[in-house]
Amino acid sequence: MTKKKLFVKSFGCQMNVYDSTRMIDTLVGVGYEESQSEHSADLIILNTCHIREKASEKIFSELGKLRVYKEGRHKEGLQTRIAVAGCVAQAEGGQIIKREKSVDLVIGPQNYHRLPDLLNRLDSETALVDTEFPAEEKFDFLPYPTEEKTRSRGISAFVTIQEGCDKFCAFCVVPYTRGAENSRPVEKIIEEIKNLAQSGVCELTLLGQNVNAYSGPNRVDQSVSLAGLIQLISEIPGIKRIRYMTSHPNDMQADLIAAHANQKALMPFLHLPVQSGSDHILAAMNRKHTAQDYLDLIKTIRTSNPDIALSSDFIVGFPGETEADFEATLELIRQVRFASSYYFKYSPRIGTPSADLTDQISETVMQSRFTRLQDLVEAQRREFNHSMKGKILEVLVEKKGKYEGQIMGKSPYMQPVHVRASDELIGQLIKVEITDISTNSLFGNIVDQAVL
Ligand code: SAH
Ligand code: SF4
Ligand code: F3S
Repeated sequence: MTKKKLFVKSFGCQMNVYDSTRMIDTLVGVGYEESQSEHSADLIILNTCHIREKASEKIFSELGKLRVYKEGRHKEGLQTRIAVAGCVAQAEGGQIIKREKSVDLVIGPQNYHRLPDLLNRLDSETALVDTEFPAEEKFDFLPYPTEEKTRSRGISAFVTIQEGCDKFCAFCVVPYTRGAENSRPVEKIIEEIKNLAQSGVCELTLLGQNVNAYSGPNRVDQSVSLAGLIQLISEIPGIKRIRYMTSHPNDMQADLIAAHANQKALMPFLHLPVQSGSDHILAAMNRKHTAQDYLDLIKTIRTSNPDIALSSDFIVGFPGETEADFEATLELIRQVRFASSYYFKYSPRIGTPSADLTDQISETVMQSRFTRLQDLVEAQRREFNHSMKGKILEVLVEKKGKYEGQIMGKSPYMQPVHVRASDELIGQLIKVEITDISTNSLFGNIVDQAVL
């Protein structure tokens, strides 16, 4: 029997990327074959993001295109199923099917283990919606990838260790779409990582909406912190690098700060979103820390490890943001000097507390602040990248480069590094002297081929 073709398209954060791989592994186990495009796919899953209005609207324009594809195939006598997963699915549920009739299934992020069953039920039912928060843990039921599959995905992998968020920042949908904070048990994570390591994975990014609040039970039901978990992971043979994201400043515990100084496998790069540099806005955002708290924390982190590179997320134009508030954000950026950052225009999301605030900022003001912030952040990124010139960096080789005889890897600070070398070095740490810098990448020469 020919296998049905499955195409999964991910939007949003890395947790969606990770969930998509777990959905693929589940469906491959029940007779589907993964396809890299929607072309001739029998089942298409959109794993969606609800964080900003643009992200949600993108899904509906995508669904419009898929409807045409589905109708075309229908005329040829072929059946196509369309599923919407992820945070838009959780937030909008059955409304999605009302708006776009070609959708067969709406499935929330906590229900992916039910996919095979729901797809079977579609043989006799027209459209299904499953956005409950089930009592069972989905990860306990989602199978691991085969060795071949893991190898095809490369040497760097994501592993979700914590889901959900209890912080309720006033602008954010995540606590509603992903539910309450929940840490996976230590042993399950270790088992999953051992499995990945045996298939050639040597770099891990531990994921969670609030990953540094990780507090998972071990075998004897003691809770283990993120630093404790990183220690255990670093002992797994084959694991060379560990990263994690995303963290909240209020959960940056002393043992994690110490790990950045003592734990060789833990990379010196920390994504620690602050959102704003104004105390008035931080309070309105319900961030529960001040700008000075953040600056003090950065000082402690840098005292412990002066080599650490920092990045953040910023929201411009939060309701009530004055010119002075915005200036305070620029000032914080100038003081910290970030290696890179993400920045967003505020987008009111229905159901979040700040959507009801009356003093929304006009698009003109928002755009002008966005550009000013962008200029500053991008100048800092360039400055950070240029500071690498002449340095010798450890690079973990990930894949073949764009050109023949070139390879691509990452510096400890997440920068892509291009080097002329053999692709036999994939999966190895090499030393590279940085000679050139472009907008987003570094270029250099191998100085020592010995495996580090
Ligand atoms: N859990 C992470 C990331 C959450 S979403 C954290 O706490 O940092 C990623 C980023 O999207 C946020 O850090 C924030 O900067 C941005 N974001 C979230 N909601 C938003 C909204 N309503 N409008 C604009 N940006 C938003
Ligand atoms: Fe959203 Fe705030 Fe939770 Fe991050 S910490 S996911 S911004 S509510
Ligand atoms: Fe988007 Fe959901 Fe991630 S809203 S950012 S996909 S947690």
